[in-house]
Amino acid sequence: MIAPKEISTMKTRLLTLALLLVVPSALAHGTLAAFFGGQIAESGDYRAEFAVRDGAIRVWVRDHDDKPVKASGKATLLLGGQKLELPLNAQGDGLAAEAPVKSRDKLAAVVGLQVEGKPLSVRFMQAELTLPAALSPQADSGRKLFEAVCAACHGAALRGSDSGPPLLHPFYAQGSAHGDDIILAAMNSGAKAHMWKFGDMPKPEGLKPGQDRDVLAYIRAMQAANGLGSAPAAAPGGDPHAGHKH
Ligand code: HEC
Repeated sequence: MIAPKEISTMKTRLLTLALLLVVPSALAHGTLAAFFGGQIAESGDYRAEFAVRDGAIRVWVRDHDDKPVKASGKATLLLGGQKLELPLNAQGDGLAAEAPVKSRDKLAAVVGLQVEGKPLSVRFMQAELTLPAALSPQADSGRKLFEAVCAACHGAALRGSDSGPPLLHPFYAQGSAHGDDIILAAMNSGAKAHMWKFGDMPKPEGLKPGQDRDVLAYIRAMQAANGLGSAPAAAPGGDPHAGHKH
């Protein structure tokens, strides 16, 4: 959760984050599932997923059958001119380290691992993203609702958390398989787990009738500011979920 003062600083055009993969081989595999909303890099026999949380980083290593693989190692973060060496500790199916980072920070990471006796090195980068220069009154009211109702799981920077996926993600962009109707439906009924490994989204508590539209306006404004949503608002005809199993 971000303090209101911090938000207004953010609104003056600060960084949120885009996790941009710099490992070229992975770009050819845009469809690879990120189980926890992170970015995926492939190297040799393995896939590494990397995510930044507020105050921590997370790394998961899987084999080509998407089975978790035990790994150890460290991450080197380049963050605001600082270089941080962080030993990674086992946590759940993956690795984690506490770090003085926020999910909206700009940073680069080199993750050096030992996986089944083999070295694995993968790089990730968080590009600088933009917050909307101005929000419409509707989107601004949506921002407050988002902070109160959604941010605990989807992150105050809409970058996800350990409890829910990022909404600044091509999966949820305008013109994607998750159109406005799907986003409104999630707000009004929750959502069954089907894209990630976070589990189900419960029906959110605390939205009054009609406020779902405000939150949607905020999500769309944030996406647009971050280069997601240049596609047409709605595909003419057809199932908005075509090709995507719910
Ligand atoms: C308790 C945690 C939690 C809260 C609170 C929450 N979500 Fe979610 N949300 C999730 C999880 C987990 C998923 C992933 C489900 C999946 O695997 O696709 C999700 C998925 C979604 C999706 C995709 C739905 C789909 O059908 O694919 C949208 C859109 C969404 N959330 C929006 C919101 C909004 C907007 C709010 C606030 C009004 C909110 N969520 C509150 C946890 C949460």
